[in-house]
Amino acid sequence: MPTILVAGGAGYIGSHTIVELFAAGHDVICVDDFSNSSPESLASIQKIAGKSVTLYTQDVCNTAALNDIFSQHVIDGVIHFAGYKAVGESVELPLMYYRNNIDSTLSLCEACLNHHVTNIVFSSSATVYGTPHFLPLTEEHPLSATNPYGNCKLFIEHILKDLCVANPAMNIALLRYFNPVGAHDSALLGESPRGIPNNLMPYICQTASGLRECLNVFGDDYETVDGTGVRDYIHVVDLAKGHVAAINKLAENPGCVTYNLGTGNGTSVLQLLSAFIAENKVNVPYKVTSRRPGDVAECWAATDKAEKELGWKAELGIKEMVRSSWLAQCNSK
Ligand code: UD1
Repeated sequence: MPTILVAGGAGYIGSHTIVELFAAGHDVICVDDFSNSSPESLASIQKIAGKSVTLYTQDVCNTAALNDIFSQHVIDGVIHFAGYKAVGESVELPLMYYRNNIDSTLSLCEACLNHHVTNIVFSSSATVYGTPHFLPLTEEHPLSATNPYGNCKLFIEHILKDLCVANPAMNIALLRYFNPVGAHDSALLGESPRGIPNNLMPYICQTASGLRECLNVFGDDYETVDGTGVRDYIHVVDLAKGHVAAINKLAENPGCVTYNLGTGNGTSVLQLLSAFIAENKVNVPYKVTSRRPGDVAECWAATDKAEKELGWKAELGIKEMVRSSWLAQCNSK
C-alpha cells in the first residue's frame, strides 16, 4: 500500500483528497498545524473512510521536524497543500505569505531530497495565468501574477521545475485548480473559511443561512453572458480524484508536468446563484456592487491534457456543486 504524505491535509481540498487517497488504497500521513483548519476534518475523514490518518501536528516550514517524520516512514509520494490562500490578505501581509508559502515548499523539497522521495504533487492555481489572452486556458498560456498569493504559486512552480532539472529522478505534477466548490456527499467535510468569506460559494452559503445579510455581486458590466464574472467551478470531489490520478501517474509522466484541473465550462455569478436557489429552494438576497479590483471577466480551462495523460475528467455538474455546498453548510451549524 503506497504511503502518501499530505502537507496541509486538514484543509478543504486536502481533506477531500485524503478521502479519495484512502478509497484508492493508499495509506496517508498528514502534516498540518491547523493554522487555517481544524482536527475535526480528520475525525470526519475517519468516519467516511473507516481508516485513520497518521497525524503530525507540525508547521510544514519546520524542516527539522519534517526530516524526523520522513525518517520514521517509507513515503512514496507527497501532496503539498500547505499554504496561505487569501488574495486580499496576501496584498496586506506579503512577507507573511512569502515566508510561509515558500518556506513550507523548500522544507518539503529538502526533506524529499534527503529521504529519496521523488514523487511530488503541488497544489497550484489558475491564478498563475493572470488575465486570459485566450480561452480556454491551456497549460501553455503565458504566466503572470498580480498579487503575492499568485506570485507564491508562480515562484513555487519555478522552484519545483528547477528541482526537477537538477534531479532528473524527480517526478512532479503542478496542478492548476480552477474554482473548487462543493463538498463530500456525507456533508461531513466542507469549506469553512474563517471570518468573512472571500470566495463566491462560501459567501452564497453563508448568506442563505442568514450569517450574512446580502451577497454582493461584484459587477454586472463585464462582457459576459449576463454581465457578471464567469468561472470554471469544479466539484472538490472531482478535484480530489484529480490528485489521486496525478500521484498514480507520476512515474508514467516523468519530470515536471503541469495540468489544469477544471471542467472546461464557464458559469456566471448569476447562473451559479440561480442554480443554488433553484436546487436548494432557499432565498439568497443579493445586490450588484462595483467590480472587485483584480477580477477578470471570464476564465475556464482546457481540460484535454489532464484527460489524455491522467485519464481524469471532472464528472460532477453545477447541481451537485450547489447541493453539496448547501448540505455541508447546513451540517456545519
Ligand atoms: C479567487 C482568487 C484566486 C484564487 C481563488 C481560490 C481573486 C481575485 N482571485 O478566484 O486567485 O486562486 O479565488 O479559490 O480573489 N464574486 C462575487 N461576490 C463575492 C465573491 C465573488 O460576485 O462575494 C464573484 C467574483 O467577482 C468572480 C466570481 O464571483 O467573478 C468568483 O470569485 P471567487 O470565488 O472569489 O474566485 P476567483 O476570483 O475566480
